[in-house]
Amino acid sequence: MIIAIDGPAGAGKSTVARIIAQKLGFLYIDTGAMYRALTLKALERKIDVNDTAALIEMARSTNIDLINNPDSSLKILLDARDVTGSIRQPSITRLVSDIAKIKGIREVMLGLQRRLGRLRDSVLDGRDIGTVVFPDADKKFYIDAEFEERVKRRYKELKELGQNITPEDIENDLKNRDNIDSTREFAPLKRAEDAIYIDTTNLTIEEMVNKVLSYIQ
Ligand code: CDP
Repeated sequence: MIIAIDGPAGAGKSTVARIIAQKLGFLYIDTGAMYRALTLKALERKIDVNDTAALIEMARSTNIDLINNPDSSLKILLDARDVTGSIRQPSITRLVSDIAKIKGIREVMLGLQRRLGRLRDSVLDGRDIGTVVFPDADKKFYIDAEFEERVKRRYKELKELGQNITPEDIENDLKNRDNIDSTREFAPLKRAEDAIYIDTTNLTIEEMVNKVLSYIQ
């Protein structure tokens, strides 16, 4: 069984995806983390974001593994190195959407995501899961929330990670990424026609999780 969860940044998709995967005993596949890991590697190798050929070549020779921990947290391995913490840094967030819009990069990630999803029952979250990666998913959700609420949530999350950021930084980041992600040519963020739409603006984490589960069970 495949459960697809898409939506914009800060709407609560990864929180919901992680928890429901744990509750159902499914594999959790955080596809955003994959694009973030590639972005980290590109930055470390000082590959220019405009050098698409070099970026695609790099993606083809990269190993990304997602390890589901028993406590429902996720460990991200980039070429066998733990990058769980570093992929959330602002330098990565700033660049990730520019790398994720490249067609050849998406093709490499699509292959990996489909391979992983076919291994076991899985929950995948991202931008194009219900539209492109698994258009035949058993259940599709589009998780959304009002912009101000998304800013608040992301600010709190990053503050807890110890980042030195302001709410304005978050506003700018979310606007910028939502714009690039939803207007790009290949696999843009959009609600699949058959996705269940959930507005989480006024929902607690528990309420979001229960709502999603109520459609699955
Ligand atoms: O967690 P957050 O909402 O900040 O984003 P993410 O899920 O970590 O994804 C980071 C970025 O990767 C997004 O802004 C997209 O540019 C890209 N992405 C994508 O293009 N397709 C996906 N399926 C998942 C993420």
